[in-house]
Amino acid sequence: MNIQEKNNLSIISNPIVNQSLCIMRNQNTDTQGVRLAARKLTRILLYEATKNLPQKEVEIETPIARCNSMTINDDITIIISPILRAGLIFTDEAVDILPQATIRHIGMYRDEKTLKPVWYYNKVPMPVDNPEKYYVFITDPMLATGNSLKEAIKLYVEKGIPEKNICCVCMISSPVGIEAVFSEYPNVKIIVAAVDSHLNERGYIVPGMGDAGDRIFNT
Ligand code: URA
Repeated sequence: MNIQEKNNLSIISNPIVNQSLCIMRNQNTDTQGVRLAARKLTRILLYEATKNLPQKEVEIETPIARCNSMTINDDITIIISPILRAGLIFTDEAVDILPQATIRHIGMYRDEKTLKPVWYYNKVPMPVDNPEKYYVFITDPMLATGNSLKEAIKLYVEKGIPEKNICCVCMISSPVGIEAVFSEYPNVKIIVAAVDSHLNERGYIVPGMGDAGDRIFNT
């Protein structure tokens, strides 16, 4: 896997990632094709996003012998926070690989005129005990203006969760979106598969994949 790392940004590339992006971006790919490619991609991105989760050593018994084995520390709380609706595409893969995770949905839509996020659902309750033991993965396939991600990050930072424990997992991003997030939250992590050229006048990523929610949910 080729990982380009710039401070807290990781850009993931390998043949499966590239093929998935190619399928998703193509306007001739139908919904089923977009979903399949997106799910493949989410799994790879999530593997990368979770690579520094704290681990511990436990003693287990295999059918053959006793041995010590590493596993994810069970005294941490793992939260997957999909930004509705397109961020939902990450959840099935996320709960498959992290069955202990809590899913906390965040509902925001983008005002077409202002491009600012408008809240309609927040499943992130107060308060949080031991916030330093929380690890949060905010998922949204498109990091465009960065406005929704910043709102989502703020929710968790306000509860005392360290920025370094918050990871934004996205597929396609824009340079301005990345810059916008890091200018307010320099210590969060951002994992993406692509950084595209720019945003158009309607706030869409160019070349991007169009409206990710519409492409994934066939609307
Ligand atoms: N949201 C999308 O679905 N697509 C974009 O290009 C930007 C934001």
